[in-house]
This record gives sequence, structure tokens and C-alpha cells, in this order.
Amino acid sequence: NDHILSDLPLKGKRVLITAGPTYEAIDPVRFIGNHSSGKMGVELALAAAGLGAKVDLILGPSALKVHHESVTVHNVICAQEMYDAAHQFFGDADVAIAAAAVADYRPAAIADQKIKKNDSKMQIDLVKTQDILASMGAIKKDQFLVGFALETENEVENAKKKLNKKNLDAIVLNSLNDKGAGFKTKTNKITFITKDSVQPYDLKSKKEVAVDVWNAIMKFVI
Ligand code: CTP
Ligand code: CA
Repeated sequence: NDHILSDLPLKGKRVLITAGPTYEAIDPVRFIGNHSSGKMGVELALAAAGLGAKVDLILGPSALKVHHESVTVHNVICAQEMYDAAHQFFGDADVAIAAAAVADYRPAAIADQKIKKNDSKMQIDLVKTQDILASMGAIKKDQFLVGFALETENEVENAKKKLNKKNLDAIVLNSLNDKGAGFKTKTNKITFITKDSVQPYDLKSKKEVAVDVWNAIMKFVI
């Protein structure tokens, strides 16, 4: 009813989310990828839509299907496509969250034909991909920009470095160390970090983590 509709806290806001892995082609049949499922980003998108936002979800290769009238899914394969799609929507976004596990390197060249094996060792030259999140931080105006960080040592310290270096408003530290958190799981253990706050949360389902993240973000953007 009208009362509930007018209570949606993110009504009128536009949200951009990157999610899932990227696949960087080696040849016509092979790629460099990672085990990201896209689940965390999809839950963030659905939670934002549930709070009234219009969401553009830039999604790398993922088995997940997203059906919500306020979530537009833009399917991409590689880091460059994700970069282009993200920049298409960043200008109009009020909040942007980079939850994607973007490949840091891609093959310097994609072979036209399937690479044949030979009798000696094999090497592939890799070049850096563009940092999508940092590129948004560099042109940010009023957007509230949130990154993720996956660290295995000096977690909070390294996450804070990423927050500063990429000009973010907040960073969600994902702890892989804790049992049951991270890739290929339904749960995450996060710490929500801003310039002047560090808020740890319990191990929870990714759906519940998404609600925690939005409650934390909404303290700044509402
Ligand atoms: N990210 C991105 N584009 C890239 C690499 C990372 O947008 N090419 C984003 C991720 O979506 C995440 C954040 O940057 O929100 C941090 O990713 P992470 O892999 O933890 O950090 P990196 O900056 O890539 O550094 P490193 O992997 O060396 O720790
Ligand atoms: Ca990385």
C-alpha cells in the first residue's frame, strides 16, 4: 500500500553493483577465471531493490538468475567489458558497490586458434586489467562508493589501504580465514570499514550480510 511504498528508504536512488567473476580469454576455448559465484553481489542487488532502489547489476559469468523488476542485469564476460558497463552507469548512480572478483591480469594476446600442446613447458604473457573500482574512485562526485577487499593477512590494515588508495567511502572486508566464509559458500564474515570506523559482523548468510551492508550504507546516504 501507499504507506509502505512511501517508506522505502532507497526510493529514487540509483545503485550500480558489479558482481561475479571475470573470464579472460586465452584462446577460443580457454580462459583465466576464478571461483566467484556472484552470490554476494546478487544479494546486494536484491536487497537494494527491496529497499526501493533502481539497480544496474553488472554481472560476470554466473549461474545465478535474477528476477526483480527493479534490477537490470547487464551480463559481461571479461574485465574490460565490466569496466565499460560500469562506466555506462556510474555517472547516474547514487551508490556504487564493487563486489566483483575481477581478474587482476589477462593474457596479453588472445590466440586465434586453440593452442596446441608441445613437448616443453608453456608460458602465457599476462598484462594488468584496469582497476574498475579505482577508476570510479578517480572520477567520483557525489556517489557513495563501496569496495570489497579479500585479504589473507593484515586484513584491516590492508583493507584501509585500499579504501584510501581507491578513494572509497567504505570497504567491506571479506574474511577468508574464518571457516565458512568466502567463495563457493553461502556465508560471509565481514567487517564494514570507513575512514573513521571499523565495524565487524558475525558469520552470516550472504542474504543477511547484504542487509547489514545496506543498513551501514544507509547511515550515510539517507
Ligand atoms: N576491483 C576492480 N577491478 C579490478 C580489480 C579489483 O573493480 N581490476 C575491485 C573489486 O571488485 C573489489 C576491490 O577492487 O571491490 C578490491 O579487490 P581485491 O582483489 O581485494 O584488491 P586488488 O585491488 O585487486 O588488490 P590485490 O588483489 O592485489 O589484493
Ligand atoms: Ca585483485
